[in-house]
Amino acid sequence: MIAMAEHMSRLGTESAFEVLARAAKLEAEGREVINLGIGQPDFKTPGHVVEAAVKALRDGHHGYTPANGILPLREAVAADFENRNGVVVDPDNVVVQPGGKVTMFFAILMFGEPSVEIIYPDPGFPIYRSVIDFSGAKAVPMPLREENEFSFNAEEVLSLITPKTRLIILNSPANPTGGVLRIEELDKLVEGLHKHPNIVILSDEIYSQMLYDDRHHVSLMAYESIRDRVILLDGWSKTYAMTGWRLGYAIWPKALAEPATRLAINCHSCVNAPTQYAGMAALTGPQDAVHDMTKAFDERRKVIVKELNMIPGFHCLNPGGAFYTFPSIADTGMTARQAQDQLLQEVGVATVAGSSFGEFGEGFLRFSYANSIENIREALQRIRIWLQAR
Ligand SMILES: Cc1ncc(COP(=O)(O)O)c(C=O)c1O
Repeated sequence: MIAMAEHMSRLGTESAFEVLARAAKLEAEGREVINLGIGQPDFKTPGHVVEAAVKALRDGHHGYTPANGILPLREAVAADFENRNGVVVDPDNVVVQPGGKVTMFFAILMFGEPSVEIIYPDPGFPIYRSVIDFSGAKAVPMPLREENEFSFNAEEVLSLITPKTRLIILNSPANPTGGVLRIEELDKLVEGLHKHPNIVILSDEIYSQMLYDDRHHVSLMAYESIRDRVILLDGWSKTYAMTGWRLGYAIWPKALAEPATRLAINCHSCVNAPTQYAGMAALTGPQDAVHDMTKAFDERRKVIVKELNMIPGFHCLNPGGAFYTFPSIADTGMTARQAQDQLLQEVGVATVAGSSFGEFGEGFLRFSYANSIENIREALQRIRIWLQAR
């Protein structure tokens, strides 16, 4: 019998991809499915970004690049970050990766091992928990509650720290809730972390440019007192509608950029060269597409929140960022998984069960509003009619 390594049994997955596959299967059988499950912009990558990649290929940029990314791209990342957050970044601390996910995989593997504890958001992006388990570390959930608008409570997070805690993961704006952390809680957390100088913080800010109602992003990197132990995760996937290009970056503390690059050399060597040129064009070119996309998401957000709150048994907060809503469905009497499966099977609407983002996600459903207003309205009407008929 083929025997895999024991740690393979601890590796989880991301349910959104399973839902996507099931929705595709139903569509292949002739069903018409509205997909509010997957977390990717439904817009096209801006034209000038595509052209930059084509030009790079024509210019002969088809070989390996430095494992951490070409220098002009790392310089563009540093300049963009400074421009948006007022924090000066050394391009040598930037490591370009094939997607934001690779940063979390590397960061968790860099610190996770048996006898170590890692604190992660729950409900949160499922890959955090999956890779923590894979590493052998103990996964310690940081509960994100609806009554706090899905922001963390600093006192609670600090109370979860033990001498074994090595890494804390933060994510704002957040997947799956659309929640944005409260600045007073972040201030308190940073203050409390001064007592724990050996803890590293992975700050996943991949939705940093998708904020609504005049909110401004505050990066964890803005806190100078802990900057030397922050791993900043961001990328192009969401901001520039580039999920399939596989491009992301992290800003690592000086001492960690080299091990992160070593992991890259062992894993993928480098991001494909033309994509790096595309990433440079995205950062240095016009930002109109980013603003237009956020404006469109904002309009959809208003529609989906209003419509969700009209469904009997649902209630939904107004999310501050990203492109997700996370309504409570507890009053329908269904579990999150039952609701996800029945909505897909019987109503033809793909969503993701809150419980696939952690135990604190039970009783909620994630709706991505990366779809047209027309489809959003149609999907929610179908749900309303179906629930009324039940
Ligand atoms: C919170 C969060 N971080 C990171 C990622 C990964 O992004 P990428 O597609 O760049 O790997 C996602 C993607 O859904 C996400 O939601």
